[in-house]
Amino acid sequence: MRRIFIDTDPGIDDAIAILLALAVPAELEVLGIVAVAGNLPLAQTERNARRVCELAGRPEIPVYAGCARPMLRPLATAEHIHGETDRDRLLLPEPTMALQTLHGVDFLIETLRAAQTGSITVCALGPLTNIAMALVKAPEVAARIGELVIMGGACFELGNVTPAAEFNVHVDPHAAAIVLDSGIPITMMPLDVTHQLLTTPPRLAVLRALDNHCGRAVAALLASFERRRRSKFGTRATALHDPSVIAYLLDPKLFDGREVNVAIETESPLTIGMTVVDWWGVSGRPVNARVMTKVDSEGFYSLLSENLVRLP
Ligand code: RIB
Ligand code: CA
Repeated sequence: MRRIFIDTDPGIDDAIAILLALAVPAELEVLGIVAVAGNLPLAQTERNARRVCELAGRPEIPVYAGCARPMLRPLATAEHIHGETDRDRLLLPEPTMALQTLHGVDFLIETLRAAQTGSITVCALGPLTNIAMALVKAPEVAARIGELVIMGGACFELGNVTPAAEFNVHVDPHAAAIVLDSGIPITMMPLDVTHQLLTTPPRLAVLRALDNHCGRAVAALLASFERRRRSKFGTRATALHDPSVIAYLLDPKLFDGREVNVAIETESPLTIGMTVVDWWGVSGRPVNARVMTKVDSEGFYSLLSENLVRLP
């Protein structure tokens, strides 16, 4: 049993990751969900986090609002991708569960301070603003985090929001730099992994065939997602980025990577937000992350469908 926090900017792929985490209460104890501005403004990401908890029949999960903007850069969202249509609003009704009043960063700090050393796993599915702010405000809490699993960055893949940068790191590169410099054991799920997790028609068909409310909602959310955008992959397929973090917690053998140094470009106007991954160990910089580049994509989709069906 892992005790986890989920820091997230739902976001359709975030929503699926949260559902997967809530589907396995015997394996993952979700201590709380902290929303961050990223895909959408904070008011929408926190509301969406509550909507997903209620969809999963878990209104007791505490949801907190964290930071409303990156540490230094202005907020740049992905509303054109994750914004919702009227049809989506029918999929996820307005939440009735309350938002917690404590700030999400203070929740992270207070809960980590009360935890044993190395006893908490943090899952970062959006920009790293909340986690960096917690580390700046209370650096001692880093030791309470046994593993930080991040969806973000790119190794051999190019960026998805600029040619050099992946969205989560690009939104808040300064936060990413602070987190990667923290000494916390980090596992990174970059675009190299998530671009192997495309929603191909056979995989979508399996999700559509799920005979439960949450399974049907996931299939409908993905269908809505695809209607609105032509994928960069030349089809209507999209990459399931954030669920890779939860799948790793449930079956790490699905993934493979290497212990390397990852540095963040925080200044160049051309490449800001780039994760500079020293894959060949030529920089002399110390190892600070395990970067995954391989995944058993069929095994991932089997794990996803086998567990989503356990939800209401
Ligand atoms: O680049 C993909 C990441 O950015 C995912 O976490 C997606 O939800 C967006 O936050
Ligand atoms: Ca996300």
